[in-house]
Amino acid sequence: MTQNNNGDFTPNFEEKAEVSMISKFVKNLLTLKNPDSMLEQAKKGGLKKTLGAFDLIILGVGAIIGSGIFTVVGLAAKGSAESLGAGPGLVVSMVLASLACIFSALCYSEFASMIPVAGSAYLYTYATMGEFMAWLIGWVLMLEYLVGYIAVVSAWSGYFMQFIKGFSFLPQWLTNPPIYLIHDYSTVVHELTTKGIDPNSVIPHFMGVPICVNVPGILITLFIIATLIKGIQESKNMAGIMVAIKLGVVALFILTGMFYIRPENWTPFAPNGMSGIFMGAFIIFFAYIGFDAIATAAEETKNPQKNLPIGIIGSLAVCTIIYVLVALVLTGVVPISQIDVQAPIASAMKMVGQDWVAGLISIGALTGLTSVLLVLMLAGTRILYAMSRDNFLPSVFQKLHPKFKTPHVLTITVGAICLIGSLLLNISTAAELCNFGTFASFIIVCVAVLILRKTDPNRPRPFKVPFSPFLPIMGIVCCSGLMIYSMQFLKTSRILFPVWVILGIAFYFSYSYRQQRKAQNINANEENNV
Ligand code: ALA
Repeated sequence: MTQNNNGDFTPNFEEKAEVSMISKFVKNLLTLKNPDSMLEQAKKGGLKKTLGAFDLIILGVGAIIGSGIFTVVGLAAKGSAESLGAGPGLVVSMVLASLACIFSALCYSEFASMIPVAGSAYLYTYATMGEFMAWLIGWVLMLEYLVGYIAVVSAWSGYFMQFIKGFSFLPQWLTNPPIYLIHDYSTVVHELTTKGIDPNSVIPHFMGVPICVNVPGILITLFIIATLIKGIQESKNMAGIMVAIKLGVVALFILTGMFYIRPENWTPFAPNGMSGIFMGAFIIFFAYIGFDAIATAAEETKNPQKNLPIGIIGSLAVCTIIYVLVALVLTGVVPISQIDVQAPIASAMKMVGQDWVAGLISIGALTGLTSVLLVLMLAGTRILYAMSRDNFLPSVFQKLHPKFKTPHVLTITVGAICLIGSLLLNISTAAELCNFGTFASFIIVCVAVLILRKTDPNRPRPFKVPFSPFLPIMGIVCCSGLMIYSMQFLKTSRILFPVWVILGIAFYFSYSYRQQRKAQNINANEENNV
Protein backbone atom coordinates (compact mmCIF):
# COMPACT_ATOMS: atom_id res chain seq x y z
CA MET A 1 0.00 0.00 0.00
CA THR A 2 1.20 3.54 -0.71
CA GLN A 3 -0.19 6.74 0.83
CA ASN A 4 -1.02 9.57 -1.62
CA ASN A 5 -0.98 13.35 -0.96
CA ASN A 6 -4.57 13.29 0.30
CA GLY A 7 -3.65 10.74 2.93
CA ASP A 8 -5.66 7.93 1.17
CA PHE A 9 -4.15 4.48 0.83
CA THR A 10 -3.99 3.11 -2.72
CA PRO A 11 -2.89 -0.43 -3.59
CA ASN A 12 0.35 -0.80 -5.56
CA PHE A 13 0.57 -2.85 -8.80
CA GLU A 14 1.13 -6.29 -7.17
CA GLU A 15 -1.61 -5.71 -4.63
CA LYS A 16 -3.97 -4.61 -7.41
CA ALA A 17 -3.21 -7.83 -9.31
CA GLU A 18 -3.87 -9.88 -6.16
CA VAL A 19 -7.17 -8.11 -5.48
CA SER A 20 -8.31 -8.63 -9.06
CA MET A 21 -7.34 -12.35 -8.89
CA ILE A 22 -9.35 -12.79 -5.71
CA SER A 23 -12.36 -10.97 -7.10
CA LYS A 24 -12.16 -13.08 -10.29
CA PHE A 25 -11.97 -16.24 -8.19
CA VAL A 26 -15.01 -15.23 -6.12
CA LYS A 27 -16.84 -14.25 -9.32
CA ASN A 28 -16.12 -17.71 -10.74
CA LEU A 29 -17.50 -19.41 -7.64
CA LEU A 30 -20.68 -17.36 -7.91
CA THR A 31 -21.18 -17.79 -11.68
CA LEU A 32 -24.88 -18.43 -12.27
CA LYS A 33 -26.31 -20.61 -14.98
CA ASN A 34 -29.13 -19.03 -16.92
CA PRO A 35 -32.31 -21.16 -16.76
CA ASP A 36 -32.92 -20.44 -20.46
CA SER A 37 -29.57 -21.93 -21.41
CA MET A 38 -30.43 -25.01 -19.29
CA LEU A 39 -33.67 -25.46 -21.23
CA GLU A 40 -31.79 -25.00 -24.51
CA GLN A 41 -29.18 -27.58 -23.48
CA ALA A 42 -31.87 -30.05 -22.44
CA LYS A 43 -33.55 -29.74 -25.85
CA LYS A 44 -30.30 -30.82 -27.50
CA GLY A 45 -29.74 -33.62 -24.95
CA GLY A 46 -31.89 -36.19 -26.73
CA LEU A 47 -33.46 -37.96 -23.73
CA LYS A 48 -36.83 -39.43 -24.83
CA LYS A 49 -40.04 -37.81 -23.41
CA THR A 50 -42.26 -40.66 -22.27
CA LEU A 51 -43.62 -39.88 -18.77
CA GLY A 52 -47.10 -38.48 -17.92
CA ALA A 53 -48.61 -37.36 -14.54
CA PHE A 54 -49.77 -40.84 -13.58
CA ASP A 55 -46.38 -42.33 -14.51
CA LEU A 56 -44.74 -39.72 -12.29
CA ILE A 57 -46.97 -40.59 -9.30
CA ILE A 58 -46.08 -44.25 -9.87
CA LEU A 59 -42.39 -43.30 -10.14
CA GLY A 60 -42.73 -41.23 -6.93
CA VAL A 61 -44.56 -43.89 -4.91
CA GLY A 62 -42.07 -46.38 -6.35
CA ALA A 63 -39.22 -44.32 -4.96
CA ILE A 64 -40.86 -43.46 -1.64
CA ILE A 65 -42.40 -46.64 -0.20
CA GLY A 66 -39.54 -48.98 0.63
CA SER A 67 -37.22 -49.90 3.47
CA GLY A 68 -38.48 -46.89 5.45
CA ILE A 69 -41.92 -48.36 6.04
CA PHE A 70 -40.91 -52.03 5.82
CA THR A 71 -37.81 -51.83 8.08
CA VAL A 72 -36.80 -48.40 9.50
CA VAL A 73 -40.29 -47.82 10.99
CA GLY A 74 -39.42 -50.31 13.77
CA LEU A 75 -36.32 -48.31 14.76
CA ALA A 76 -38.28 -45.05 14.71
CA ALA A 77 -40.92 -46.48 17.08
CA LYS A 78 -38.69 -48.50 19.39
CA GLY A 79 -35.37 -46.60 19.20
CA SER A 80 -31.80 -47.95 18.97
CA ALA A 81 -28.44 -47.61 20.72
CA GLU A 82 -27.99 -44.15 19.14
CA SER A 83 -31.56 -42.81 19.08
CA LEU A 84 -34.71 -42.62 21.23
CA GLY A 85 -37.92 -44.23 20.01
CA ALA A 86 -41.15 -42.31 19.43
CA GLY A 87 -43.42 -45.07 20.80
CA PRO A 88 -47.06 -44.83 19.65
CA GLY A 89 -46.26 -41.12 19.15
CA LEU A 90 -44.72 -42.36 15.88
CA VAL A 91 -47.84 -41.10 14.19
CA VAL A 92 -46.88 -37.53 15.27
CA SER A 93 -43.29 -38.14 14.06
CA MET A 94 -44.75 -39.24 10.71
CA VAL A 95 -46.75 -36.03 10.40
CA LEU A 96 -43.74 -33.88 11.40
CA ALA A 97 -41.51 -35.58 8.82
CA SER A 98 -44.18 -35.26 6.15
CA LEU A 99 -44.60 -31.53 6.92
CA ALA A 100 -40.87 -30.97 6.35
CA CYS A 101 -41.30 -32.83 3.05
CA ILE A 102 -44.48 -31.04 1.96
CA PHE A 103 -42.95 -27.55 2.32
CA SER A 104 -39.92 -28.71 0.32
CA ALA A 105 -42.12 -30.55 -2.22
CA LEU A 106 -43.93 -27.30 -2.99
CA CYS A 107 -40.59 -25.60 -3.62
CA TYR A 108 -39.43 -28.50 -5.81
CA SER A 109 -42.66 -28.20 -7.78
CA GLU A 110 -42.15 -24.48 -8.42
CA PHE A 111 -38.67 -25.12 -9.79
CA ALA A 112 -39.50 -28.32 -11.65
CA SER A 113 -42.38 -26.66 -13.51
CA MET A 114 -40.27 -23.58 -14.28
CA ILE A 115 -37.02 -25.34 -15.33
CA PRO A 116 -37.96 -28.90 -16.35
CA VAL A 117 -34.48 -30.29 -16.91
CA ALA A 118 -32.61 -33.35 -15.57
CA GLY A 119 -30.54 -32.35 -12.56
CA SER A 120 -33.22 -31.02 -10.17
CA ALA A 121 -31.89 -29.42 -6.93
CA TYR A 122 -28.41 -29.24 -8.42
CA LEU A 123 -29.55 -27.08 -11.33
CA TYR A 124 -31.93 -24.98 -9.21
CA THR A 125 -28.91 -24.09 -7.07
CA TYR A 126 -26.83 -23.33 -10.15
CA ALA A 127 -29.45 -20.84 -11.29
CA THR A 128 -29.57 -19.05 -7.95
CA MET A 129 -26.44 -19.49 -5.84
CA GLY A 130 -23.73 -20.11 -8.40
CA GLU A 131 -21.23 -22.69 -9.47
CA PHE A 132 -19.65 -23.64 -6.14
CA MET A 133 -22.92 -24.19 -4.24
CA ALA A 134 -24.31 -26.09 -7.24
CA TRP A 135 -21.37 -28.46 -7.18
CA LEU A 136 -21.67 -28.90 -3.43
CA ILE A 137 -25.37 -29.68 -3.56
CA GLY A 138 -24.82 -32.15 -6.42
CA TRP A 139 -22.17 -33.83 -4.27
CA VAL A 140 -24.45 -33.91 -1.21
CA LEU A 141 -27.29 -35.32 -3.34
CA MET A 142 -25.12 -38.37 -3.92
CA LEU A 143 -25.62 -39.11 -0.21
CA GLU A 144 -29.35 -39.08 -0.76
CA TYR A 145 -29.44 -41.20 -3.88
CA LEU A 146 -26.37 -43.44 -3.78
CA VAL A 147 -25.88 -43.83 -0.02
CA GLY A 148 -29.68 -44.15 0.23
CA TYR A 149 -29.37 -46.92 -2.37
CA ILE A 150 -26.83 -48.67 -0.12
CA ALA A 151 -29.28 -48.55 2.84
CA VAL A 152 -32.08 -50.00 0.74
CA VAL A 153 -29.88 -52.70 -0.82
CA SER A 154 -28.98 -53.83 2.67
CA ALA A 155 -32.68 -54.15 3.64
CA TRP A 156 -33.36 -55.88 0.29
CA SER A 157 -30.76 -58.50 0.92
CA GLY A 158 -32.18 -59.16 4.44
CA TYR A 159 -35.70 -59.71 3.05
CA PHE A 160 -34.33 -61.83 0.19
CA MET A 161 -32.60 -64.21 2.59
CA GLN A 162 -35.81 -64.46 4.64
CA PHE A 163 -37.74 -65.16 1.43
CA ILE A 164 -35.56 -68.00 0.14
CA LYS A 165 -35.43 -69.61 3.59
CA GLY A 166 -39.13 -70.42 3.01
CA PHE A 167 -38.21 -72.88 0.22
CA SER A 168 -37.25 -76.05 2.09
CA PHE A 169 -36.25 -77.92 -1.11
CA LEU A 170 -33.34 -75.51 -1.79
CA PRO A 171 -29.82 -76.64 -0.75
CA GLN A 172 -28.52 -75.52 2.65
CA TRP A 173 -25.60 -73.50 1.16
CA LEU A 174 -28.17 -71.30 -0.59
CA THR A 175 -30.69 -70.84 2.22
CA ASN A 176 -28.15 -70.54 5.01
CA PRO A 177 -24.90 -69.14 3.59
CA PRO A 178 -22.01 -67.88 5.76
CA ILE A 179 -22.82 -64.51 7.34
CA TYR A 180 -19.89 -62.81 5.55
CA LEU A 181 -21.56 -63.53 2.19
CA ILE A 182 -24.80 -61.67 2.97
CA HIS A 183 -23.80 -58.55 4.96
CA ASP A 184 -21.36 -55.63 5.07
CA TYR A 185 -18.32 -55.81 7.36
CA SER A 186 -19.68 -53.75 10.28
CA THR A 187 -22.96 -55.69 10.41
CA VAL A 188 -21.07 -58.99 10.41
CA VAL A 189 -18.81 -57.81 13.26
CA HIS A 190 -21.82 -56.53 15.22
CA GLU A 191 -23.83 -59.74 14.77
CA LEU A 192 -20.93 -62.03 15.69
CA THR A 193 -19.82 -59.96 18.68
CA THR A 194 -23.40 -59.87 20.03
CA LYS A 195 -23.35 -63.69 19.97
CA GLY A 196 -19.99 -63.72 21.79
CA ILE A 197 -18.08 -65.00 18.70
CA ASP A 198 -14.68 -63.56 17.71
CA PRO A 199 -15.27 -62.04 14.21
CA ASN A 200 -11.69 -62.86 13.15
CA SER A 201 -12.34 -66.55 13.66
CA VAL A 202 -15.19 -66.45 11.11
CA ILE A 203 -14.42 -63.73 8.51
CA PRO A 204 -11.91 -64.82 5.83
CA HIS A 205 -8.99 -62.45 5.13
CA PHE A 206 -7.18 -61.73 1.87
CA MET A 207 -3.71 -60.17 2.35
CA GLY A 208 -4.79 -59.06 5.84
CA VAL A 209 -8.06 -57.46 4.59
CA PRO A 210 -11.31 -58.95 5.97
CA ILE A 211 -13.65 -60.06 3.18
CA CYS A 212 -17.39 -59.50 3.69
CA VAL A 213 -19.41 -59.41 0.48
CA ASN A 214 -23.17 -58.94 0.26
CA VAL A 215 -23.74 -61.36 -2.64
CA PRO A 216 -27.55 -60.87 -2.96
CA GLY A 217 -26.89 -57.10 -2.93
CA ILE A 218 -24.40 -57.47 -5.78
CA LEU A 219 -26.82 -59.55 -7.86
CA ILE A 220 -29.73 -57.13 -7.49
CA THR A 221 -27.43 -54.19 -8.29
CA LEU A 222 -26.30 -55.88 -11.52
CA PHE A 223 -29.97 -56.38 -12.41
CA ILE A 224 -30.77 -52.70 -11.67
CA ILE A 225 -27.81 -51.52 -13.79
CA ALA A 226 -28.92 -53.67 -16.73
CA THR A 227 -32.53 -52.44 -16.43
CA LEU A 228 -31.53 -48.79 -16.34
CA ILE A 229 -29.23 -49.16 -19.33
CA LYS A 230 -32.02 -50.80 -21.29
CA GLY A 231 -34.13 -47.69 -20.81
CA ILE A 232 -36.49 -45.62 -18.73
CA GLN A 233 -39.52 -46.95 -20.66
CA GLU A 234 -38.80 -50.47 -19.44
CA SER A 235 -37.93 -49.18 -15.94
CA LYS A 236 -41.27 -47.35 -15.91
CA ASN A 237 -43.30 -50.46 -16.81
CA MET A 238 -41.51 -52.54 -14.24
CA ALA A 239 -41.91 -49.84 -11.57
CA GLY A 240 -45.69 -49.81 -12.23
CA ILE A 241 -46.05 -53.53 -11.51
CA MET A 242 -43.86 -53.31 -8.41
CA VAL A 243 -45.75 -50.31 -7.03
CA ALA A 244 -49.09 -52.14 -7.45
CA ILE A 245 -47.74 -55.14 -5.50
CA LYS A 246 -46.32 -53.11 -2.65
CA LEU A 247 -49.44 -50.95 -2.29
CA GLY A 248 -51.44 -54.17 -2.21
CA VAL A 249 -49.46 -55.68 0.68
CA VAL A 250 -49.46 -52.42 2.68
CA ALA A 251 -53.26 -52.28 2.25
CA LEU A 252 -53.47 -55.91 3.35
CA PHE A 253 -51.49 -55.06 6.50
CA ILE A 254 -53.76 -52.11 7.35
CA LEU A 255 -57.01 -53.95 6.63
CA THR A 256 -56.00 -57.11 8.51
CA GLY A 257 -54.17 -55.36 11.35
CA MET A 258 -57.00 -52.95 12.23
CA PHE A 259 -59.05 -55.83 13.64
CA TYR A 260 -56.26 -56.64 16.11
CA ILE A 261 -55.70 -53.13 17.48
CA ARG A 262 -55.75 -52.93 21.29
CA PRO A 263 -56.10 -49.26 22.28
CA GLU A 264 -54.19 -49.89 25.53
CA ASN A 265 -51.05 -50.35 23.36
CA TRP A 266 -51.27 -46.64 22.53
CA THR A 267 -50.47 -45.66 26.12
CA PRO A 268 -48.09 -44.24 27.18
CA PHE A 269 -48.32 -42.32 23.92
CA ALA A 270 -44.81 -40.80 23.99
CA PRO A 271 -42.60 -42.86 26.34
CA ASN A 272 -39.54 -40.70 25.55
CA GLY A 273 -41.38 -37.40 25.42
CA MET A 274 -40.78 -34.87 22.66
CA SER A 275 -37.14 -36.05 22.27
CA GLY A 276 -38.42 -39.45 21.16
CA ILE A 277 -40.94 -37.87 18.80
CA PHE A 278 -38.30 -35.62 17.18
CA MET A 279 -35.77 -38.45 16.84
CA GLY A 280 -38.56 -40.61 15.42
CA ALA A 281 -39.30 -37.87 12.88
CA PHE A 282 -35.62 -37.66 11.91
CA ILE A 283 -35.35 -41.43 11.42
CA ILE A 284 -38.69 -41.93 9.65
CA PHE A 285 -37.90 -39.03 7.30
CA PHE A 286 -36.00 -41.72 5.40
CA ALA A 287 -39.35 -43.31 4.52
CA TYR A 288 -40.43 -40.15 2.64
CA ILE A 289 -37.28 -39.70 0.60
CA GLY A 290 -37.81 -40.22 -3.08
CA PHE A 291 -40.51 -37.74 -4.17
CA ASP A 292 -37.77 -35.34 -5.23
CA ALA A 293 -36.43 -38.04 -7.55
CA ILE A 294 -39.40 -37.23 -9.81
CA ALA A 295 -37.90 -33.83 -10.59
CA THR A 296 -34.78 -35.54 -11.93
CA ALA A 297 -36.89 -37.18 -14.64
CA ALA A 298 -38.10 -33.75 -15.82
CA GLU A 299 -36.44 -33.98 -19.23
CA GLU A 300 -38.19 -37.28 -19.87
CA THR A 301 -41.64 -35.87 -18.92
CA LYS A 302 -44.43 -34.87 -21.31
CA ASN A 303 -45.98 -31.45 -20.51
CA PRO A 304 -43.69 -31.06 -17.46
CA GLN A 305 -45.17 -27.70 -16.31
CA LYS A 306 -48.43 -29.43 -15.40
CA ASN A 307 -47.36 -33.01 -14.73
CA LEU A 308 -44.37 -32.44 -12.46
CA PRO A 309 -46.23 -30.64 -9.61
CA ILE A 310 -49.05 -33.23 -9.80
CA GLY A 311 -46.50 -36.05 -9.66
CA ILE A 312 -44.48 -34.60 -6.77
CA ILE A 313 -47.30 -33.48 -4.50
CA GLY A 314 -49.60 -36.38 -5.44
CA SER A 315 -47.09 -39.10 -4.59
CA LEU A 316 -46.19 -37.43 -1.28
CA ALA A 317 -49.84 -37.09 -0.29
CA VAL A 318 -50.59 -40.76 -1.10
CA CYS A 319 -47.60 -41.94 0.94
CA THR A 320 -48.34 -39.70 3.93
CA ILE A 321 -51.87 -41.12 4.28
CA ILE A 322 -50.56 -44.69 3.98
CA TYR A 323 -47.76 -44.12 6.52
CA VAL A 324 -50.02 -42.59 9.16
CA LEU A 325 -52.37 -45.58 8.87
CA VAL A 326 -49.45 -48.04 9.07
CA ALA A 327 -48.10 -46.29 12.18
CA LEU A 328 -51.52 -46.39 13.89
CA VAL A 329 -52.01 -50.08 13.11
CA LEU A 330 -48.46 -51.17 13.97
CA THR A 331 -48.34 -49.43 17.36
CA GLY A 332 -51.93 -50.48 18.09
CA VAL A 333 -51.29 -54.16 17.37
CA VAL A 334 -47.83 -54.68 18.93
CA PRO A 335 -46.65 -53.34 22.31
CA ILE A 336 -43.65 -51.06 21.62
CA SER A 337 -41.18 -53.27 23.51
CA GLN A 338 -42.11 -56.26 21.30
CA ILE A 339 -41.68 -54.52 17.91
CA ASP A 340 -39.23 -56.44 15.72
CA VAL A 341 -36.72 -54.00 14.22
CA GLN A 342 -35.70 -56.28 11.30
CA ALA A 343 -39.17 -56.82 9.76
CA PRO A 344 -41.68 -54.96 11.97
CA ILE A 345 -44.68 -55.12 9.66
CA ALA A 346 -44.41 -58.81 8.75
CA SER A 347 -43.63 -59.79 12.37
CA ALA A 348 -46.69 -57.90 13.66
CA MET A 349 -48.86 -60.14 11.48
CA LYS A 350 -47.05 -63.26 12.71
CA MET A 351 -47.69 -62.18 16.31
CA VAL A 352 -51.43 -62.14 15.73
CA GLY A 353 -51.32 -65.54 14.00
CA GLN A 354 -51.72 -64.24 10.43
CA ASP A 355 -48.71 -66.10 9.01
CA TRP A 356 -49.93 -66.05 5.41
CA VAL A 357 -50.30 -62.25 5.54
CA ALA A 358 -46.76 -62.06 6.97
CA GLY A 359 -45.50 -64.18 4.03
CA LEU A 360 -47.21 -61.97 1.47
CA ILE A 361 -45.83 -58.86 3.18
CA SER A 362 -42.28 -60.22 2.83
CA ILE A 363 -42.80 -60.75 -0.91
CA GLY A 364 -44.32 -57.26 -1.23
CA ALA A 365 -41.43 -55.75 0.70
CA LEU A 366 -38.94 -57.36 -1.64
CA THR A 367 -40.79 -56.02 -4.66
CA GLY A 368 -41.18 -52.57 -3.08
CA LEU A 369 -37.50 -52.34 -2.24
CA THR A 370 -36.59 -53.28 -5.82
CA SER A 371 -38.61 -50.35 -7.20
CA VAL A 372 -36.93 -47.96 -4.73
CA LEU A 373 -33.52 -49.21 -5.83
CA LEU A 374 -34.47 -48.59 -9.44
CA VAL A 375 -35.58 -45.01 -8.89
CA LEU A 376 -32.73 -44.05 -6.54
CA MET A 377 -30.10 -45.16 -9.02
CA LEU A 378 -31.98 -43.53 -11.88
CA ALA A 379 -32.07 -40.22 -9.99
CA GLY A 380 -28.39 -40.43 -8.99
CA THR A 381 -27.28 -41.01 -12.57
CA ARG A 382 -29.44 -38.17 -13.92
CA ILE A 383 -27.89 -35.65 -11.48
CA LEU A 384 -24.37 -36.79 -12.36
CA TYR A 385 -25.31 -36.63 -16.05
CA ALA A 386 -26.25 -32.96 -15.62
CA MET A 387 -23.04 -32.29 -13.67
CA SER A 388 -20.94 -33.87 -16.38
CA ARG A 389 -22.73 -31.79 -19.01
CA ASP A 390 -21.63 -28.75 -16.99
CA ASN A 391 -17.95 -29.87 -17.10
CA PHE A 392 -17.77 -30.75 -13.38
CA LEU A 393 -17.16 -34.40 -14.21
CA PRO A 394 -15.41 -36.13 -17.16
CA SER A 395 -17.32 -35.83 -20.45
CA VAL A 396 -17.28 -39.61 -20.96
CA PHE A 397 -20.25 -39.74 -18.56
CA GLN A 398 -22.41 -37.95 -21.14
CA LYS A 399 -22.04 -40.78 -23.63
CA LEU A 400 -25.46 -42.17 -24.54
CA HIS A 401 -25.88 -45.81 -25.49
CA PRO A 402 -26.24 -45.90 -29.30
CA LYS A 403 -29.34 -48.10 -29.19
CA PHE A 404 -31.04 -47.40 -25.83
CA LYS A 405 -30.14 -43.67 -25.60
CA THR A 406 -29.30 -43.95 -21.89
CA PRO A 407 -26.04 -42.81 -20.19
CA HIS A 408 -24.58 -46.32 -19.92
CA VAL A 409 -21.00 -45.45 -18.92
CA LEU A 410 -22.32 -43.35 -16.06
CA THR A 411 -24.83 -45.99 -14.98
CA ILE A 412 -22.12 -48.66 -14.80
CA THR A 413 -19.80 -46.32 -12.85
CA VAL A 414 -22.53 -45.39 -10.38
CA GLY A 415 -23.45 -49.06 -9.95
CA ALA A 416 -19.80 -49.89 -9.19
CA ILE A 417 -19.65 -47.10 -6.58
CA CYS A 418 -22.81 -48.42 -4.91
CA LEU A 419 -21.36 -51.94 -4.86
CA ILE A 420 -18.18 -50.76 -3.13
CA GLY A 421 -20.17 -48.61 -0.68
CA SER A 422 -22.43 -51.52 0.23
CA LEU A 423 -19.35 -53.44 1.41
CA LEU A 424 -18.50 -50.67 3.87
CA LEU A 425 -21.70 -49.10 5.28
CA ASN A 426 -24.37 -50.68 7.45
CA ILE A 427 -28.08 -49.89 7.03
CA SER A 428 -28.52 -47.41 9.90
CA THR A 429 -25.42 -45.33 9.13
CA ALA A 430 -26.33 -45.29 5.44
CA ALA A 431 -29.95 -44.24 6.20
CA GLU A 432 -28.80 -41.45 8.56
CA LEU A 433 -26.26 -40.14 6.05
CA CYS A 434 -28.92 -40.26 3.36
CA ASN A 435 -31.20 -38.19 5.64
CA PHE A 436 -28.49 -35.59 6.23
CA GLY A 437 -27.86 -35.25 2.49
CA THR A 438 -31.57 -34.96 1.76
CA PHE A 439 -32.23 -32.38 4.50
CA ALA A 440 -29.34 -30.29 3.17
CA SER A 441 -30.70 -30.38 -0.38
CA PHE A 442 -34.28 -29.57 0.76
CA ILE A 443 -33.04 -26.55 2.70
CA ILE A 444 -31.11 -25.30 -0.32
CA VAL A 445 -34.11 -25.73 -2.64
CA CYS A 446 -36.33 -23.71 -0.24
CA VAL A 447 -33.67 -20.95 -0.09
CA ALA A 448 -33.28 -21.05 -3.89
CA VAL A 449 -37.03 -20.46 -4.44
CA LEU A 450 -36.85 -17.34 -2.28
CA ILE A 451 -33.74 -16.07 -4.12
CA LEU A 452 -35.16 -16.60 -7.61
CA ARG A 453 -38.43 -14.87 -6.67
CA LYS A 454 -36.28 -11.78 -5.96
CA THR A 455 -33.70 -12.03 -8.75
CA ASP A 456 -35.99 -13.19 -11.57
CA PRO A 457 -39.55 -12.22 -10.52
CA ASN A 458 -40.93 -12.11 -14.07
CA ARG A 459 -39.95 -15.61 -15.16
CA PRO A 460 -43.15 -17.58 -15.95
CA ARG A 461 -43.97 -19.89 -13.02
CA PRO A 462 -46.65 -22.40 -14.06
CA PHE A 463 -46.75 -23.51 -10.41
CA LYS A 464 -46.06 -21.11 -7.51
CA VAL A 465 -45.52 -22.04 -3.85
CA PRO A 466 -48.54 -20.51 -2.06
CA PHE A 467 -47.98 -18.16 0.90
CA SER A 468 -44.35 -17.46 -0.04
CA PRO A 469 -42.08 -16.62 1.81
CA PHE A 470 -43.86 -18.24 4.78
CA LEU A 471 -44.00 -21.83 3.45
CA PRO A 472 -40.41 -21.97 2.08
CA ILE A 473 -39.19 -20.56 5.42
CA MET A 474 -41.19 -23.24 7.26
CA GLY A 475 -39.43 -25.83 5.06
CA ILE A 476 -36.04 -24.42 6.06
CA VAL A 477 -36.96 -24.36 9.77
CA CYS A 478 -38.40 -27.91 9.84
CA CYS A 479 -35.52 -29.50 7.91
CA SER A 480 -32.68 -27.71 9.71
CA GLY A 481 -34.40 -28.18 13.10
CA LEU A 482 -34.67 -31.97 12.69
CA MET A 483 -31.14 -32.18 11.29
CA ILE A 484 -29.51 -30.20 14.11
CA TYR A 485 -31.59 -31.85 16.83
CA SER A 486 -30.61 -35.36 15.76
CA MET A 487 -26.89 -34.57 15.73
CA GLN A 488 -26.73 -34.62 19.52
CA PHE A 489 -27.66 -38.32 19.56
CA LEU A 490 -26.02 -39.84 16.47
CA LYS A 491 -22.35 -40.78 16.61
CA THR A 492 -21.02 -42.13 13.31
CA SER A 493 -23.07 -40.29 10.71
CA ARG A 494 -22.63 -36.86 12.28
CA ILE A 495 -18.88 -37.26 11.66
CA LEU A 496 -19.14 -38.86 8.22
CA PHE A 497 -21.45 -36.10 6.91
CA PRO A 498 -18.94 -33.23 7.34
CA VAL A 499 -16.17 -35.52 6.06
CA TRP A 500 -18.18 -36.07 2.86
CA VAL A 501 -18.72 -32.32 2.46
CA ILE A 502 -14.98 -31.62 2.90
CA LEU A 503 -14.11 -34.30 0.33
CA GLY A 504 -16.53 -32.64 -2.10
CA ILE A 505 -14.90 -29.24 -1.62
CA ALA A 506 -11.44 -30.77 -2.16
CA PHE A 507 -12.58 -32.49 -5.37
CA TYR A 508 -14.11 -29.26 -6.64
CA PHE A 509 -10.95 -27.21 -6.21
CA SER A 510 -8.60 -29.89 -7.45
CA TYR A 511 -10.61 -30.94 -10.55
CA SER A 512 -13.98 -29.37 -11.28
CA TYR A 513 -12.99 -25.71 -10.82
CA ARG A 514 -10.12 -26.10 -13.30
CA GLN A 515 -12.26 -28.00 -15.81
CA GLN A 516 -14.82 -25.20 -15.67
CA ARG A 517 -12.18 -22.55 -16.40
CA LYS A 518 -10.74 -24.62 -19.28
CA ALA A 519 -14.23 -24.95 -20.78
CA GLN A 520 -14.87 -21.22 -20.34
CA ASN A 521 -11.57 -20.37 -22.10
CA ILE A 522 -12.39 -22.68 -25.00
CA ASN A 523 -15.84 -21.06 -25.34
CA ALA A 524 -14.36 -17.56 -25.20
CA ASN A 525 -11.77 -18.44 -27.90
CA GLU A 526 -14.46 -19.93 -30.13
CA GLU A 527 -16.56 -16.78 -29.76
CA ASN A 528 -13.53 -14.59 -30.60
CA ASN A 529 -12.79 -16.64 -33.71
CA VAL A 530 -16.34 -16.26 -35.06
N1 ALA B 1 -38.09 -43.74 0.99
C1 ALA B 1 -37.24 -44.78 0.56
C2 ALA B 1 -37.38 -45.98 1.41
O1 ALA B 1 -38.10 -45.94 2.37
C3 ALA B 1 -35.82 -44.32 0.51
O2 ALA B 1 -36.79 -47.00 1.10
